Amino acid sequence: METKIKAITSNSLDEAKNIIVNGGVVAIPTETVYGLGGNAFDDDAVKRIFEVKGRPNDNPLIAHVHTDYDLLKIVDYIPPYAEKLRKAFLPGPLTLVYPSKGKVSPFVSCGLDTLAVRVPSHEGAQAFLRAVGIPIVAPSANLSRHVSPTSAKHVFDDFEGKIPLILDGGNCEGGIESTVCDCTGEYPVILRPGLITKEMIEKVVGRCGEHLPDLKKGEKAKSPGMMYKHYSPRCKTLLFSAENVENAILRYHAESQENQGVAVLCEEKWISVFEKAGAKCLNLGKNQAEMAMRLYGLLREAETVCKVLIVVEPTEKSGIMVGVLNRLQKACASEDIPHEKI
Ligand code: TXA
Ligand code: MG
Repeated sequence: METKIKAITSNSLDEAKNIIVNGGVVAIPTETVYGLGGNAFDDDAVKRIFEVKGRPNDNPLIAHVHTDYDLLKIVDYIPPYAEKLRKAFLPGPLTLVYPSKGKVSPFVSCGLDTLAVRVPSHEGAQAFLRAVGIPIVAPSANLSRHVSPTSAKHVFDDFEGKIPLILDGGNCEGGIESTVCDCTGEYPVILRPGLITKEMIEKVVGRCGEHLPDLKKGEKAKSPGMMYKHYSPRCKTLLFSAENVENAILRYHAESQENQGVAVLCEEKWISVFEKAGAKCLNLGKNQAEMAMRLYGLLREAETVCKVLIVVEPTEKSGIMVGVLNRLQKACASEDIPHEKI
């Protein structure tokens, strides 16, 4: 199958719609990362997404809708605090998990009685969702466990020959996936950190929990997708905390004696230190938004330029860096974390 990359025009939207109504999948841009979209009502389309990605079948998908879509067609109940969050942050990088109405394909939520819904703010995503008019399930458009895609080219690199069309909406400005927030309890609980932070949610609704289990200790995740080694470049990765830069430099020297391609991924302030030591550096940037935006592109670049990647965690740990650190830790996890059904 030929994989076409097309700018978003009325012609390419018609083509995308045609693929979707016939049960196929289309890659679409969003403000966070690219998604691999299919009709949420169509069992075969949903199964196809799992198959193309190689995604474990216990990891549920997010349904994407346009700004005027009537949510109550697919979710059972919207708690008042979720209404407030919708008003404050949508369209935008926040996914809310509701009690499901059981209308979408049962394969979407992998047996859970909840449904995650997202209203992306990206203009191209909105144009596509309006054109099709139905909820579109869209996991990030990367092969399962690989680095998420922030450009049409990243999607092409993973799915050339496997999907018919990639709608090109440019580079994603957000850079990491949406915050996933459970809205089935008394107050919202963050299941996956992202660009909408706990502090931002607390400002709007007063209380916000966090369910970010320490998977190394075997704690159970409520959001199954958070359980795996994930977002990983295809090279050896070694993670150091910002407080441990000296050790990162020592390790750089040790690794360079044994390997040809050793590179360092770090925030801008460490670049000169590592360059002095002779390292090839990938610059994560100097502020939070920049680091989120560049992260996945650099992890993908790393696998093409090096065998070993030394990663230094950013110094800042609050705000959207909670999400950035979460992705870096999963990308550098040394082995797969065994996952259990919840
Ligand atoms: O920014 C994003 O959210 C991107 C773009 C394409 O919209 N999508 C994305 O999808 O990141 P995916 O499939 O890569 O991640 C979905 C996350 C997983 O961690 C999954 O476990 C969680 O959302 N999730 C989906 N449905 C859920 C549910 N019903 N309950 C709890 N977690 C759910
Ligand atoms: Mg993903």
